[in-house]
Amino acid sequence: MPPSKRPRTSSGSALGKGHRPSIDALVAAAREARGHAVADYSHFKVGAALETIDGTIVTGCNVENATYGLTICAERVAMFKALSEGHREFRRIAIVADTAQPTPPCGACRQILWEFAADIEVVLANLTRQTGRHRLPSLLPEPFDGRLLGH
Ligand code: THU
Repeated sequence: MPPSKRPRTSSGSALGKGHRPSIDALVAAAREARGHAVADYSHFKVGAALETIDGTIVTGCNVENATYGLTICAERVAMFKALSEGHREFRRIAIVADTAQPTPPCGACRQILWEFAADIEVVLANLTRQTGRHRLPSLLPEPFDGRLLGH
């Protein structure tokens, strides 16, 4: 994609605030992010691209390490990057893995997405095509959240 057509990302800006990236552009950003995955243990590379309410795309990839247990998924990397950059409202997330079947977010990621993005659209894709499309509440029915703590 030529730089002039590239949607606005958190690390570089081509399009102004208010421009909404297409689903194809969001999936393309997730595929590109997947290329940065640090997955030396599982060799299972995942990329994610989170669209904020103003059309900014914030990407993430999974990052593994020798303890295994401290691995963090692509979706949470994208969300924590976005929150740390001041974003608070989100519209969609694209998740890409090299699988014929859909690779939906793990339980921990569903919980974090619910807390910070609530009724977000979740677009699943592999390297060549879309494999699924959901709204988060259908992936995480009856969630635990701050309301149960009186917030
Ligand atoms: N992984 C993700 O990044 N996102 C998912 O939705 C599923 C799993 C990562 C975690 C780990 O690095 C590898 O994929 C294998 O589980």
